[in-house]
Amino acid sequence: MAVKPKVLVTREVFDETLAYLGRHCEVESNQKDVPFDADTLAQRLKDKDGVVCCLTDRIDGQLLARCPRLKVAANIAVGFNNIDLAACTAHHVLATNTPGVLDDSTADLAWTLMLAAARRLTEAETYVRAGQWKGWHLKQLLGVDVHHATLGIIGMGRIGQAIARRAEGFEMRVIYHNRSRLAADIEQRLKATYVSKDELLAQADFVVLQMPYSPQTHHLIGEAELKKMKPSAILINSTRGGVVDDTALIRALKGGTIRAAGLDVFESEPRLNPEFLALKNVVLAPHIGSSTEATRSAMAMTAAQNAVAALTGGTPPNLLNPECKL
Ligand code: DGY
Repeated sequence: MAVKPKVLVTREVFDETLAYLGRHCEVESNQKDVPFDADTLAQRLKDKDGVVCCLTDRIDGQLLARCPRLKVAANIAVGFNNIDLAACTAHHVLATNTPGVLDDSTADLAWTLMLAAARRLTEAETYVRAGQWKGWHLKQLLGVDVHHATLGIIGMGRIGQAIARRAEGFEMRVIYHNRSRLAADIEQRLKATYVSKDELLAQADFVVLQMPYSPQTHHLIGEAELKKMKPSAILINSTRGGVVDDTALIRALKGGTIRAAGLDVFESEPRLNPEFLALKNVVLAPHIGSSTEATRSAMAMTAAQNAVAALTGGTPPNLLNPECKL
């Protein structure tokens, strides 16, 4: 009988993910879900052919130098800023991600943050739970309307477009900025108008960030950009910590440079800047953009399929470094 390739699954996954992997590979999995530090990860990977990993695992040259057998790193995420692609290619490791399966759930969460920040839901719920609600007032917890407002999306890939599609029901005006302009038929379908980043910041009532994190997008929104936004504007970040300068954002939220923010991601998460906790005008979530049962399970299965394809001589469907030679 042929020897099965050995795979490490670095974090807890679903039973069906393990069952699928087990049909093709010898699987070691970390169902305890305690993240491995860099040294433990290297130890666990030194005799493995593949790794199914997460954004909490750093896959870089230092690690790969200690894992001579490794042929594939299959990330359970669409974002892959935890993986050094050049190092993977140099070490002949195929890298993969999970695009597509999480677009709608992630768009739903961006909308959840928009609505919650606009209607002050965190403040409202805290008030009710604290037993402070003693009666109805005309001016109680006044928010701002989402309907008929201007939605500005920076980063108009699949998730950005899913966010834009949802705006039609709210009769919003949609403007967007992206590295490259969308084809005319897509713009028409989304009823979205391409503008410069500065125009977007100046016009949008809601600025939603949906670009990937990279050295080029590090602190794409900092003090200067926040000052270009309307004082009534709301910033939503459900893409990656680091695209926003959190210190500058806290200053802007405290000083009234912008009205509010809805955040699912943070610099140095999960150790977010504690000053966020004291602010009423920010809605905070713990990086749950794609976290529905169906979507997280589809992401894990997609990663497993990518790993199995790579380890059984196929081309993984979501290969990030096609220049890599095994
Ligand atoms: C992604 O897929 O990049 C998400 O952030 C993971 O939850």
